[in-house]
Amino acid sequence: MDRLAYLRALGITPWHLRASQPVSADPPVEPAEPAEIVDSMAYQPVQTSDLQSIDLTALRHHVSQCQACELHQTRKHTVFGEGHHKVDWLIIGEAPGADEDREGQPFVGPAGQLLTQMLRAIGLAREEVFITNILKCRPPNNRDPKVAEIHACHAYLDRQIQLLEPKIIICLGRVAAQALLQSELAIGKMRGQIYHLGRQQNIPTVVTYHPAYLLRSPREKRKVWEDLKLARAHLLSLA
Ligand code: URA
Repeated sequence: MDRLAYLRALGITPWHLRASQPVSADPPVEPAEPAEIVDSMAYQPVQTSDLQSIDLTALRHHVSQCQACELHQTRKHTVFGEGHHKVDWLIIGEAPGADEDREGQPFVGPAGQLLTQMLRAIGLAREEVFITNILKCRPPNNRDPKVAEIHACHAYLDRQIQLLEPKIIICLGRVAAQALLQSELAIGKMRGQIYHLGRQQNIPTVVTYHPAYLLRSPREKRKVWEDLKLARAHLLSLA
């Protein structure tokens, strides 16, 4: 079964994407191993319809009780996200790491400190954005998220986007970009343009490198600066 067929068989609702340039119609993330398929069958993914009428406070509580995938067995805390409930900027990373799992807050480790600097470079304080992740629980040993985990968690981010109504989304890193944009393209090919995400919202979305990658490859910081400027210019053009 190809990856798209596999995701459809699992009942994954594709994100609504309107790209300013065409992107692959292929789905996100790495192909599922047979063991993953078996794992995923033990859990019941959260359904978008379960969350339809709840607000952000109730959604946070829902996430804190979540047992929709195996990650609930190893997490210390869920990481719902932080920020005001009405913000222009929504920042989406991959998944909590060890620091985030311990504190229950997104991007508090070294990558988070760099993210704070990146935001500051375009005149934004952390408090002025909402920061969350594709997954709300930490994958053990910092492994990549599994298809089934992204599937299980998808409805939470979907509802967060609906409730937060951001004016722009910044997608950090390959895993988040491929999951959100339903693409297999390398991140270098996805960055540098505006996509549109959301059901009816058509929220402008910019992809850029993950700060953890920048810690290893500081030379790429210039590209991130360009991506953030693109996002800021687009936002200003909407005002
Ligand atoms: N990396 C992420 O993608 N998210 C976090 O919250 C921390 C590190």
